[in-house]
Amino acid sequence: MVGETYQLVVVSNRLPVDRVLGEDGAELWRASPGGLVTALEPIMRASDGAWVGWAGRPGLDLPPFDHDGIHIVPVPLSATDLEDYYEGFSNDTLWPLYHDVIAPPSFHRVWWDAYVRVNRRFAEAAARAAAPGATVWVHDYQLQLVPRMLREARPDLTIGFFNHIPFPAYGIFSQLPWRTQIVEGLLGADVIGFQRSADAANFLQATRRLTGYATRSAVVEVPASDAAPARQVIARTFPISIDAAGVEQLALTPRVQERARQIRDELGNPSTVMLGVDRLDYTKGIRHRLKAFGELLAERRVAVEDVVLVQVASPSRERVEAYQQLRDEIELTVGRINGDYGTIGHPAISYLHHNFPREEMAALFLAADVMLVTALRDGMNLVAKEYVAARSDGDGVLILSEFTGSADELKSALLINPHDIDGLKDAIVRAIEMPHHERHKRMKSLRKRVREHDVARWSDEFLTALRERTAG
Ligand code: G6P
Repeated sequence: MVGETYQLVVVSNRLPVDRVLGEDGAELWRASPGGLVTALEPIMRASDGAWVGWAGRPGLDLPPFDHDGIHIVPVPLSATDLEDYYEGFSNDTLWPLYHDVIAPPSFHRVWWDAYVRVNRRFAEAAARAAAPGATVWVHDYQLQLVPRMLREARPDLTIGFFNHIPFPAYGIFSQLPWRTQIVEGLLGADVIGFQRSADAANFLQATRRLTGYATRSAVVEVPASDAAPARQVIARTFPISIDAAGVEQLALTPRVQERARQIRDELGNPSTVMLGVDRLDYTKGIRHRLKAFGELLAERRVAVEDVVLVQVASPSRERVEAYQQLRDEIELTVGRINGDYGTIGHPAISYLHHNFPREEMAALFLAADVMLVTALRDGMNLVAKEYVAARSDGDGVLILSEFTGSADELKSALLINPHDIDGLKDAIVRAIEMPHHERHKRMKSLRKRVREHDVARWSDEFLTALRERTAG
C-alpha cells in the first residue's frame, strides 16, 4: 500500500493525542499531557509534518488521520507489548537505570525481545511515512533502536535522535545486558542530542568502551561495514525548553489571573503558598520535599497558618510496582503531616492526584510564592521553566535541584541538593523570607534565560545541526 509521505517525520512513543472515552461514552482524541508534546506541537504545525506514535491504549489499530494540523500515524501496541515493552523494558529497566538506579532496574529477556519487536514496528511505520530524502526525528529512551533500524531500511534519510532523559555514567549503563545493541542502535542517527553535557560525555564514553570506535570531541567515527560506508555521528547537547511566550500569554489572561486569586482565597490566603508539580515518579524527590516541610512544621520554623504546600502529583505508569509503592508512601506521608500539623481549615499540604488543564497549571504558578523542584535526577524538568515563564510579574522564588538539567541553565534559582534535608529546609526558609528586591533580581535573570532559549530555538538548533550533517 502506498500512502502519503512527509518531509519531516517525528517518532515518539506517545502521540501528541490520546484516544480516550468521553463522559458520554463516545471515543474522542484529547491532547496528551507531557513535556514532549508541549515542546514539539508548534514545530509540527509549522512544518506540516507527520507524527508516528502510540495512541495511548492497547489493542487500537487505527489508520492515519489529521488532527489539529498534524498528520498522525498511530502504531498499535497489544496488551502484551504494553506490559513488556512499555511498562517493562522502558519503564522498569531503562527508566530506573538511566536515572542513576534510584529504584532498582529489572532485567528480563522477554522484555528486551518486546523492545526490539516494538522498536522495529515504529521504524517500519516511520520508513513508510518518510518521503525520499526526508528528515526523521526520533525521541527518547523507548525508541533507541529505531535510528539504526531506519538507516538499514532507508539509507536516504537524515536521522536525528533526542534523548529526553539522562544518559547514565558507564559504571551504571554497563549493567545493561544489551548495552552494546543500544549504543549501536543510537549510532544509526546522524545527530544524537542530549540534555546536559554530562549526558553526552557519558554516551561518548559508552561508545568508546563498547564499540572501540574513535571519538573526537562530539564526533563519533563509525567505520565502514559490508553494507554501509563510513560515517560520522554527532553526539552533543541541545537542552530542551518550553513555549515560553505561550505560557506567559496564558498566565496573563484575565481568567487565569482571576483563578490565581481564587486559589489563594480557597487556601485561606496564607502568607506563603508553596507549590510542587510533578508526575508521581520516584525520580522527582517528592518524599524528600515532604520530609523537609514536615520537619520545618515540627520544629515550628514555619506555621501551618502561614505556609501551605500545594502538591500536584499527576498519575503516571500506575501498573508498574515501583510507582504503586511510591504512591502509597507519598499518600501515607501526606496524611501523617496533615494529621500531625493541620488544623480545621488549615491542612499543611493540599495534595492533588489529578491531571489539570494548562489554564489551571498557569493559575497555580501565579498563585505560588515558592516553587519546589527537588528531583533526585531529571533530564531537564520543564516545570521549572514553566513557572519562570508564567511569572511576568517578576515575582516568585524557584527552589531547584542541582540534579536537574534545568539547573545547568537556571543558575539564579536557589539551587539545592535534595538529599541534604537540612540544606533543603534552610533553602525553603530563605525562599519564604527572601526580600522583594532579591526575588525580583533572581526572577529577572531566570526569565531572560527562559525567554531567549525557548523550544523554537531548541528545535531550530537541532534541525540545523541535522542539516549541516547532511550538507557536509
Ligand atoms: C518523561 C519522558 C517522556 C514520557 C513522559 C511521560 O518526560 O521523557 O518520554 O512521555 O515522561 O511518561 P509516559 O510513560 O506517561 O509517557
